[in-house]
Amino acid sequence: MIKKCLFPVAGYGTRFLPATKSMPKEMLPIVNKPLVQYGVEEAIEAGLTEIGLVTGRGKRAIADHFDVSYELEHQIAGTSKEEFLSSIREVMSKATFSMTRQQEMRGLGDAILNGRRLIGDEPFGVVLSDDLCLNTEGGDGVLAQMVQLYKQFRCSIVAIQEVPEDQISKFGVIAGEKLKDGIFQVTNMVEKPAVEEAPSNLAIIGRYILTPDIFEIIENTPPGKNGELQLTDALLTQAKNGCVLGYKFKGTRFDCGSVDGFVEATNYVYNNIYKM
Ligand code: G1P
Repeated sequence: MIKKCLFPVAGYGTRFLPATKSMPKEMLPIVNKPLVQYGVEEAIEAGLTEIGLVTGRGKRAIADHFDVSYELEHQIAGTSKEEFLSSIREVMSKATFSMTRQQEMRGLGDAILNGRRLIGDEPFGVVLSDDLCLNTEGGDGVLAQMVQLYKQFRCSIVAIQEVPEDQISKFGVIAGEKLKDGIFQVTNMVEKPAVEEAPSNLAIIGRYILTPDIFEIIENTPPGKNGELQLTDALLTQAKNGCVLGYKFKGTRFDCGSVDGFVEATNYVYNNIYKM
């Protein structure tokens, strides 16, 4: 089944400057754990244990995070502090990590295309780690829910949620025919539309299951919104040629690419996970 998951982690994180001047935004901690580790844990929970990082310049700290830190580990071995490493050690024992570097930032579609060699010819997950998704209702994480759905439909799936009008232009937005409760067959998709042009209020959240034909479609997709190669545009082609589903997931998404969402996530995790 699905074993691989791509993490595009080459972006700058300008909204968090100066914190992200020399540190990758994906390493910003929500309480005591870097954002990207939450995403990797979600992937592992879904059975996606072959992690592919599409990185860029200045992102070495991410690769180091998922590797042994000999000096540190030697220093604290056998002390009470060792338990603070347990979550990352668990991640490292369950998953493998491969990297490739995106040389220029040409959009999410381009980042995914860069990951092609790490994926090959099989379906895979994508996590945008800025979107922290927690199943606040209990039960499976978002990717695990999507993997279940993939088993049934065998086509690309995008996670969606309803957003208020004033938020719409920040997202890829879908229109679709409802197949079942919370499951839509995508008929249209627009990257960051103006409210008047939005086909609905169903916004794409940073969790995807993609079938590997997406790579060739991306290659043949012209630059779109902001002159960037948009995954949303490639997915629309895939939807027109076959099938793409929109899935209203169970859980809460925190926009950790914004300061407000980051603080909200921090408060939530502190009160409901860290302190528990
Ligand atoms: C990307 C996608 C967009 C999606 C969003 C979710 O945009 O292009 O379709 O709605 O992630 O977070 P970004 O926020 O990276 O500009």
